[in-house]
Amino acid sequence: MIDLLNHHLADILDLGLQAKQAHWNVKGPNFIALHELFDKVAEELEEFTDDIAERAVELGGVAQGTIQAVSKNSRLKAYPLDLASGKGHIARLSGALARFGASARAAIDTAARFSDADTADLFTGVSRGVDKLLWMVEAHTQAKE
Ligand SMILES: [Fe+2]
Repeated sequence: MIDLLNHHLADILDLGLQAKQAHWNVKGPNFIALHELFDKVAEELEEFTDDIAERAVELGGVAQGTIQAVSKNSRLKAYPLDLASGKGHIARLSGALARFGASARAAIDTAARFSDADTADLFTGVSRGVDKLLWMVEAHTQAKE
């Protein structure tokens, strides 16, 4: 369970920084909407990040949240440094949210298989929250640029 939590800790810290990267660098006609949306994504991920890290420690482990550990352990694709368009950021961030959401959903089953209902419940909340963020980001793919 501790390993499962730490893998997701690395992923979600990476994901949060990807949302910030989008928040800082997005440009174009939908600037203010996207700038604010990407910040909201980063903010909401922070709460899940804390829950995941603290659960690893509650179970007797060490939360591996340093930038070096995250860089080594994250399973997300590296976020490009040269994106500017809203479309580009939406596509990359949606992909990362979907990838992380799928992994959180799989973690629900893993935790349940090991009869850890509390960790399963934690991942259920994370999965539901990430689904909502994914919907909010993807909804912008229909916006004209
Ligand atoms: Fe900001």
